Amino acid sequence: MEGVVDAPFRQILTAIGGIDQCVTEFLRVTDQRLPHKVFRRLCPELDSQSRTAAGTPVALQLLGGKPEWMAVNGERAAYLGAHEVDINFGCPAKAVNNHDGGACLLQTPQRIYDIVSAVRREVPAHIPVTAKIRLGFGARTGYLDIARAVEDAGAARLVVHARSKVDGYKPPAYWHQVGEIEQRASIPIVVNGDIFTVADYHKALSESGCRDVMIGRGLLRCPDLALQIKASITGEHYTPMDWPTVAGWVKLHFDMGKPLYPRKYLGNRLKQWLSHLRLNYAGAALMFEQIKRVNDEATLDAAFDPFTNGRVEHTQPAA
Ligand SMILES: Cc1cc2nc3c(=O)[nH]c(=O)nc-3n(C[C@H](O)[C@H](O)[C@H](O)COP(=O)(O)O)c2cc1C
Repeated sequence: MEGVVDAPFRQILTAIGGIDQCVTEFLRVTDQRLPHKVFRRLCPELDSQSRTAAGTPVALQLLGGKPEWMAVNGERAAYLGAHEVDINFGCPAKAVNNHDGGACLLQTPQRIYDIVSAVRREVPAHIPVTAKIRLGFGARTGYLDIARAVEDAGAARLVVHARSKVDGYKPPAYWHQVGEIEQRASIPIVVNGDIFTVADYHKALSESGCRDVMIGRGLLRCPDLALQIKASITGEHYTPMDWPTVAGWVKLHFDMGKPLYPRKYLGNRLKQWLSHLRLNYAGAALMFEQIKRVNDEATLDAAFDPFTNGRVEHTQPAA
């Protein structure tokens, strides 16, 4: 998730567990071959077999409208060690759509075909090329044609955010319409959108007929949601993480950001995560209220003390 789920975040969420695969924030492709350092900054996992410290594979996501430049950069991602190249056709942001990238391409399935097939041609055959779409641009129509374009172009898997671009993030998610794609496709279709609880997970699967889900905000709100889901599948007993444990991970995320981000942004990143967590943990809501106007690093550090109570060091991810 662009501007949110960076490498430290992936490291933390995958260390908590239950996640089978991650995808990077999108890398914006215009009309140049991007330098190696841009790929490595976005996806430092490239230097460790494209896996997080917990061993979870990370796909590298590209976004852009020019097939030739998407292909050149897809090839470079593969050269640098990407284990999968994913293409974003779902981003609804005006700044992105006005520059011919993301969800605006949903209006022209032929262009989606051209982009996916160009990337597929340049990326070595053993590395999957995958795509992410929404159910349409304006109305939720045309998604069968869009999905067919992705599949015909050689994609190995398709994630479908169960809304149109115009729907934005407004509930509900139309999981049953993803099911129409799933019924016709011969590649795996992954349902995405509004999976916030174990019950949502089971409902999304039963309405869509998909075997897998992609979860975005649900994991920000409930970082052990994937563990809860897996326990519900295996029938094992699992006690969801309490707020002090979660706060330990949040502190670690905050500390990991210190060498990476200018000080003035550190507080914003923390507040951004807390703004999701507060929907699920009363302690996070309390902490958010306490720090929402604070930017000073020492005060932000100290705000964790009552919650983490010395438990932070027990929750470090494996190196
Ligand atoms: C702030 C933000 C940034 C996002 N960035 C990306 C991105 O870079 N790539 C992507 O495929 N989807 C991105 N998404 C979309 C999510 O991956 C997901 O499709 C959407 O939030 C719906 O799923 P959810 O309800 O599980 O969050 C972003 C969403 C948000 C809210």
